[in-house]
Amino acid sequence: MSAKVAKKKTSAGKRSSKKKAPKKRTPKGDSYANLVVQLRSLLKGEYDFIANAANFSSLVYNALPDVNWAGFYLLRDDELVLGPFQGKPACVRIPLGKGVCGFAAKQCETVLVPNVTEFPGHIACDPASKSEIVIPLFDGERVLGVLDLDSTSLARFDDQDAEGLNELVTVLVAHEEGLDE
Ligand code: SME
Repeated sequence: MSAKVAKKKTSAGKRSSKKKAPKKRTPKGDSYANLVVQLRSLLKGEYDFIANAANFSSLVYNALPDVNWAGFYLLRDDELVLGPFQGKPACVRIPLGKGVCGFAAKQCETVLVPNVTEFPGHIACDPASKSEIVIPLFDGERVLGVLDLDSTSLARFDDQDAEGLNELVTVLVAHEEGLDE
């Protein structure tokens, strides 16, 4: 399977005695930091998840280069159901475990797919899409859904995208739960 599962289990409560090395600044990292600022400003004072997720997908779709689809699938029982998105119309329901989205939701892991044709069971909503990244949204341990981004370029997404997008969805969910006040 040509998919990279970004395993980032944090060990809550464990503190390292070592000092954390300062984060290396990169153009991509800076652009995600800027998106976090813009997202916080869009979220300010609004707590409707659908409205906020809609603006989130528009922000990401319009700010990130070479992205032809950006949006959410929300977990309803054992199915992911299409949520707010930007891009061409997409498949509405994805069973848990199916496709890249269902796999990421079931495994509770970010999944990077450099070449979608090499991911068994990939669901091709748009045949133009060549690479994909899927980030699960968590409420504690519970998966709420996923953020899905597609690109018409091979290997468009990397670990920095995974990190930046994870930070963005964390801000969205924390805001919804009133944890950012
Ligand atoms: N490719 C996804 C389906 C959703 S679309 O890309 C918008 C998947 O395999 O789960």
